[in-house]
Amino acid sequence: MTAHLPDGLAAVMAGRPYRWYPSLPSTMDEARAWLREGAPHGAVILADEQTAGRGRLNRPWQTPPGSALALSMVLRPHLSALTHLPLLGALAVAESVAPLGVPGLGIKWPNDVLVGGLKLSGVLAESEWDGATLRGAVLGIGLNLSQDFTGSDLDGVAVSLRGALGRPVDGLTVLGALLTQLDALWALVGSAALVRAWRARLITLGQRVTVSTPAGDLMGMAEDVDADGALWLRADDGTRHRVIAGDVRLRLA
Ligand code: BTN
Repeated sequence: MTAHLPDGLAAVMAGRPYRWYPSLPSTMDEARAWLREGAPHGAVILADEQTAGRGRLNRPWQTPPGSALALSMVLRPHLSALTHLPLLGALAVAESVAPLGVPGLGIKWPNDVLVGGLKLSGVLAESEWDGATLRGAVLGIGLNLSQDFTGSDLDGVAVSLRGALGRPVDGLTVLGALLTQLDALWALVGSAALVRAWRARLITLGQRVTVSTPAGDLMGMAEDVDADGALWLRADDGTRHRVIAGDVRLRLA
């Protein structure tokens, strides 16, 4: 599937600067290097395979050849909008696959796109600095297209579009829809409208959760998100906590 992306890729990219590779360690590093060399806003690095893909919280991210979209987009955001980039990525993925009729689609705070509780897509935003000056950012998106996770270490954790829909999907079509959404939603970055649209797709609010944060685990009710996309949690002892980074697990009891 993605192995054939180059065949129609130029048409989908429609004049956008891009570089496609059959295999890379990670599209993030390639995009960051291109950003430092002056890549314009919207430039994209794509790879059919990643041998050292990375996720949030230093986790590995698997992209076997021919199975998934793996891309990193160079962005030139204002410093004040950095916290909106993970929201932008997750919302763009959700809006681009929703028209396919994916059942049980939602965003788990902050930026995992889930289908029926299984992970369809992950988003990673990284910023590039020159001392104290923001040079730009890179938004990385991994979207599972055709993997069958049955019997793998991600069985019961991850799902592909083909697995969710029970039919194959065209990777180029999904890529085109995703880029259209990223371009359109970019206009909302930094605004309350982006947060509203992202919040409407969140499945986390109103749930009892455990949040693993760099400072330790917090348990309680996911009450709301704020203008930066931070999560407000009412802990079981009644205290309120603002969580800006962490991993959420739903609790059954
Ligand atoms: C996560 O859910 O933890 C984020 C996963 C982000 C994966 C994408 S795939 C394209 C880009 N290159 C990487 O190495 N990571 C991101």
